[in-house]
Amino acid sequence: MNISNLKSRFPVFKKNPNLVFLDTAASALKVDEMIDATNNCYTNEYANIHRGNYELSSKLTKKFEDARKKVADYLNTSENNIIFVKSATEGINLVASCMSKRFLEDGDEIILSYLEHHANLIPWHLIEKKIKIQPLGLNENSEINYDELNDKINLKTKLIALTHMSNVTGSITNFDKVKDIVNKNKIPLLLDGCQFAPHKKVDLKVLDPDFYVFSAHKMYGPSGLGILFMKDKWIDEFSPYQGGGQMIHDVDIEKSTYASGYEKFEAGTPPIAPVIGFSSSLNFMNETDPNVIFDHEMKLHDYAYEKLSKFNNIKLYGSNKNKGAIISFNIEGVHNSDLGAMLDKKNIAIRTGHHCCQPLMKHFNVAGTSRISFGVYNTKEDVDYLVDSIHEITKIIL
Ligand code: ALA
Repeated sequence: MNISNLKSRFPVFKKNPNLVFLDTAASALKVDEMIDATNNCYTNEYANIHRGNYELSSKLTKKFEDARKKVADYLNTSENNIIFVKSATEGINLVASCMSKRFLEDGDEIILSYLEHHANLIPWHLIEKKIKIQPLGLNENSEINYDELNDKINLKTKLIALTHMSNVTGSITNFDKVKDIVNKNKIPLLLDGCQFAPHKKVDLKVLDPDFYVFSAHKMYGPSGLGILFMKDKWIDEFSPYQGGGQMIHDVDIEKSTYASGYEKFEAGTPPIAPVIGFSSSLNFMNETDPNVIFDHEMKLHDYAYEKLSKFNNIKLYGSNKNKGAIISFNIEGVHNSDLGAMLDKKNIAIRTGHHCCQPLMKHFNVAGTSRISFGVYNTKEDVDYLVDSIHEITKIIL
C-alpha cells in the first residue's frame, strides 16, 4: 500500500480537503472501511448477540467473536484473554477495582511514573484500599528513570503500572529495563498502550504484561470501545467488575454465580457495532502494516522536530529519540491555547493544555503545552504548512 498519502481513505478530507489534522493522539480520524462496516452492521446485520437463536443474531455473534480473535492476533495473544470494555480508561478502572477487592491491602504500594495519563493515576486514587503510590521520576530526556525501580520496589510493591508511550512527549518505555526486575520480584505489570498500539506492532508474548489496555478510537476506529488484555491467572482470580446479563452461570433471587472466562467481565449488551467496526480498522492497520505506519510517522516527526527546533524561543519537551510521533512544545510569549485557536483559524488541529497529565506538567513547571501528534494520513506538506503558520502567528503575537 502506498502510504505517502492516505487521505483518500479518510472521508473527512472529502468535505474538508485542506484540513491539517495533528491531534491523532487525542483521537484518530476515521477510516472509510470502518465507517462502512459500522454502517452496514446497523443497516443490514443488526441484532443483539449471544442471546438470539435466529440467523441475524447468530451471524453477528460469529462476526463479533471473530473480531475478538482479530484483536488477539494483532496483539499476538489468545482471544480468551481479550475483554471488551467501553474505553481504555474503563479497562484500568476495572483492574484497579478488582485488584483492590482481591489482591491489595492497606499499606501496599504500586509503582507508576510521572509520564502517566490521569487514566492511569486516578483509578488508583479511587480504590477503597489505602495504597501508597511510588512514582518513578524522569531523567534529563524526560524518560522514565529506570534506575529508581530497584530502590522503589519492596515487599509491599503489588503492581507496576506504566504507559507504553507518553501522550505528551511520545517517549516509549523501555521494557527491557523493567522486565528483569519485574520477573525477579514477581510483580504484576500493567501497560497503558493507548498511544503505542495504534502506531506500531504490539507483541504481548515479548512484553509479557499481566494487563494491557488501549482504545479503538485512537486506531482509526469507533469511540466507545476499549480493549483490555488480562492474563488467565487474573481472569480466574478476580470477581466480576459489574453485574448484569451475559456474565452469569446461574442466578437465584438472592445470589448468583458467574461465568468463568472473560465473559465474567462483559456484563450487559456489549458495544456490538463498535467491535464490528473496529475489526475493519484492524484490517486497515494490517494491510498498511503498523511498522510501516510507524516509520512514516517518525519521518514526519523528525522533519517537524528539526524545523520546530529552529525557532529561537521554543522549548521542546522530551527528547527526539526512543519515541513515537508526538511533539510537545511552548513558544515563549505565546500562550499555547492562543496558538491552538489561531492555528484552528488556518484549518490546523492541534491539542493544547495539560493533556490529562497534570503531574507531568508540574514536573515541567508549566500549566500546559502545545502538542502535535501524527497519524497515518499526515504528509510533509502538513508539516510545512504548520511551521509556516506558526511563523506567521508568532510574528503577529510577539
Ligand atoms: N489521551 C488523549 C490525549 O492525549 C485524550 O489527548
